Amino acid sequence: MTPTPHRPIRLDALAYGGDYNPDQWPEETWAEDARLMRQAGVNLVSLPVFSWPLIEKTPGVYDFGWLDRVIDLLWDSGIKVDLATGTATPPAWLIRLHPEVLPHNVDGQRLEFGSRQAYCPSSPIFREHALRLTEAMATRYGSHPALAMWHISNEYGDHVPRCWCPASAAHFRTWLQNRYGSIDGLNEAWGTSCWGQNYLTFEHIEPPRTSMGPINPTQQLDFERFSSDALLELFQAEIDVLRRVTPDIAVTTNFMSLFKELDYWDFAAAEDVVTDDAYPDPADPHAHVPAALNYGLMRSLKGGQPWLLLEQAPSAVSWRDVNVPKAPGRMRIDSFQAIAHGSDGAMFFQWRQAKFGPEKYHSAMLGHRGEQSRSFQETAALGAELKKIEAVRGSRVKASVALVVDWDSWWGSTAPDSLPSQRLNWLEQARAWHSALFALGQTVDVVRATGPFHGYDVVVVPNLYIATEAQAGALTAFVERGGQLVVGPFSGVVDPTEKVHDGGAPGPLRELLGVEVDEWWPLPDGQTGTLSWSDAAGTASELSTLIWSEWIDAAADADVVARYSDGALAGRAAIVRRTAGAGAAWYLSATLADAGLQEVLGGVLDAAGLPVRSTPGRDIEIVTRSNEDTDFTFVLNHGTGAVSVAVPEGAHDLLTGDDVSGNLTVQGFGVAVLAHPSPTSGTETGSTTEPLSVSTASENPGV
Ligand code: GLA
Repeated sequence: MTPTPHRPIRLDALAYGGDYNPDQWPEETWAEDARLMRQAGVNLVSLPVFSWPLIEKTPGVYDFGWLDRVIDLLWDSGIKVDLATGTATPPAWLIRLHPEVLPHNVDGQRLEFGSRQAYCPSSPIFREHALRLTEAMATRYGSHPALAMWHISNEYGDHVPRCWCPASAAHFRTWLQNRYGSIDGLNEAWGTSCWGQNYLTFEHIEPPRTSMGPINPTQQLDFERFSSDALLELFQAEIDVLRRVTPDIAVTTNFMSLFKELDYWDFAAAEDVVTDDAYPDPADPHAHVPAALNYGLMRSLKGGQPWLLLEQAPSAVSWRDVNVPKAPGRMRIDSFQAIAHGSDGAMFFQWRQAKFGPEKYHSAMLGHRGEQSRSFQETAALGAELKKIEAVRGSRVKASVALVVDWDSWWGSTAPDSLPSQRLNWLEQARAWHSALFALGQTVDVVRATGPFHGYDVVVVPNLYIATEAQAGALTAFVERGGQLVVGPFSGVVDPTEKVHDGGAPGPLRELLGVEVDEWWPLPDGQTGTLSWSDAAGTASELSTLIWSEWIDAAADADVVARYSDGALAGRAAIVRRTAGAGAAWYLSATLADAGLQEVLGGVLDAAGLPVRSTPGRDIEIVTRSNEDTDFTFVLNHGTGAVSVAVPEGAHDLLTGDDVSGNLTVQGFGVAVLAHPSPTSGTETGSTTEPLSVSTASENPGV
């Protein structure tokens, strides 16, 4: 899908700031907020995200007085606003006037007002009121010089990703009617002749509720698609209002990283700027690894265009069971990591730590202790540092590897029942494959199964359960042009209506991959298996399998590069590689433990001619952003010990102002941002000379 034209954020600097909730504070505090924001280098704040009840106290009567004063004060202090339309949570009066606005859970129970996001995405009443507020906000502030962009709603689907109320059921029926045209079309698509599910009319269809047994899988899949679309429709309705009133102002809604419930490819296509809320858990020393995948998705959603980290925690959050703070330096490196991965700034939730409500223990840029708080000290220090790396703004991340993310396959392969194994988890597999690539030193973009794949040497597909001819065609063209493709197990199984492809898996990918699957062979809980693999040099090793294996046959023109070495599948093909045109396609029929994934994916990277770290590890991350003449290489040491990095001639550290060459020591949680002239860009498929190489001597191997 072609991304929409890009209306940029109206801000001439890397964005720095956070959510600001002035309505939780007496007006006297606002001037101090503005002063401290200036002191900390803040140039953008998000508001008024949850203030609808204060703006519209009486239906249709808006009081913008307090908001005018805040926005003017911010603007006078040189701070712009990421202006929320305020529709993230409806006022109590709307709920009492129209209780049917409230969402229902899967058992038809109405969720009561008392938290935020108290609305059904399909409610026409909610939509009418939300659009009226959006229009009033756009009319009031559309030409205010402080307006940097529109922040529509907040984290769509955060608390209510799916709704089963009567309005949702009616909306689902209309959605199905549009998709299938006739009830016969639906019966055919859903395979309702199984278990006597045939429908005579759309009126007889309900969303999948708690039932007596397994529910029709296509009904479930369509409800996932519909629920994502229902929120998208609401998003689009607000966008339409804003486009009409303020056609030149960028619109966004804040995403929640790799979020199963919403197909972000579709959401991103509707907006101008991708923004994300990222909360890596400080209790996990490797939380930066899945974070890198999330950021890879964010920059890829609009074809490499810079995105913005709109929320992160300065230290602890308040919504985990145990909310561990960030050790000194961790907030800084987490912020630089997002910027390294293409974010044009680093924003937080929130500016001033709350005094009351569910988020009073959530850290903020300005902690309860005020200026003395550690979070304020670190916030101000980071604000000053960001000014030094201003040159990276607008540059794009270089990646030679891409990982396919497909929401249909995610939903289909993780249905609640009726699968060969409930243990094969789409997200876990995507993360495991990415994590292996991370350990091997790769920066990984995310791509759709239909591409575009231009610029990538390697494309990995941890799972493509639902596969189409169009996807197979695009992947085949990528391989024939010289790409290396790796496809994981349980792929090419069904078509978009959940019908098994004729002849079985991998369906439309059969010819390209050179395999036929005879039978799924999931591993019993707690059991592992092994397969024997030989690398390109002929060195043999045993790799562990977990969760999943398959009985497959390789085509005559394909090479078996690994065989199962134990159990019922002993001696049978496990990993198959087939050359097609100038490239090759690899099929992994088993899920591999980390070491095996690194081994196999390392072999694929070698085959693509990409540089692979000699000592794989996850503490050091090197990511390069480039513009026409300069590469900005971020060296991020996520570990706690110092590491040594070999730097080529001509690099300049933007943070220290020093010219660097030879060995650069990066302390624990340390960051270097090295500017150097872009090397002449490389091969036909777009890879470039690796500008820096990590010294293996001081890195903790295998972490
Ligand atoms: C989300 C929400 C914010 C806040 C933070 C707390 O990102 O968008 O309003 O609740 O979580 O971590």
